[in-house]
Amino acid sequence: MTHQPKSVSPEMIEVVNGPEEIAKTGKRCVMTRRQFLLTSGISTFTVMVALKSGPSSAKVPAMVSTYERKFICKLSDLKEDEPLDFTYPDEGAYAESMIVKLGKEAGGGIGAEKDIVAFNYTCTHQGGPLQGTYQKGDKALGPCPLHLTTFDLTRHGIFISGQAYQSLPQVLLEVDGDDVYAVGMFGLIYGRYDNLKG
Ligand code: FES
Repeated sequence: MTHQPKSVSPEMIEVVNGPEEIAKTGKRCVMTRRQFLLTSGISTFTVMVALKSGPSSAKVPAMVSTYERKFICKLSDLKEDEPLDFTYPDEGAYAESMIVKLGKEAGGGIGAEKDIVAFNYTCTHQGGPLQGTYQKGDKALGPCPLHLTTFDLTRHGIFISGQAYQSLPQVLLEVDGDDVYAVGMFGLIYGRYDNLKG
């Protein structure tokens, strides 16, 4: 199912930006995030994602897709600034991704400190591989080995510098006890016309 609602539901605002946005809008979410995702199934929305850090409160458009959840790792296995690799949403081309505990609150972050995020490893410019480029000082991925783009992992993967003009696709995460699951994507993976079709 694919559709683009005229306005963003409070449930999806909470999925993307956390409960603070709900508090700001004065609307209460009647479903848990898990219930929402289960009810929504595989679907795609365009939402305005708040950049939660930085000098302004700017919002950027992002395509959010929810898929069946996939176990990624144990929460207790994550160590600060030590990325773990995984593939999502499948095992196909450009599915290589990473999860990292930044030690700093981030947009879309999960865990007690909201600092655990996950991103696709493929540069949105021309598909350069970003594996091994995590910078703990800047909480960033890059520079890309092809044309030097660097992406800010605290702000939904927005580019900091370089040739790319699209944010790095962010993997939507969910915690269930000590288990961390991938449940969707913000943005389109490089080289795919649909995230589920490599
Ligand atoms: S492919 Fe990464 S900056 Fe060009």
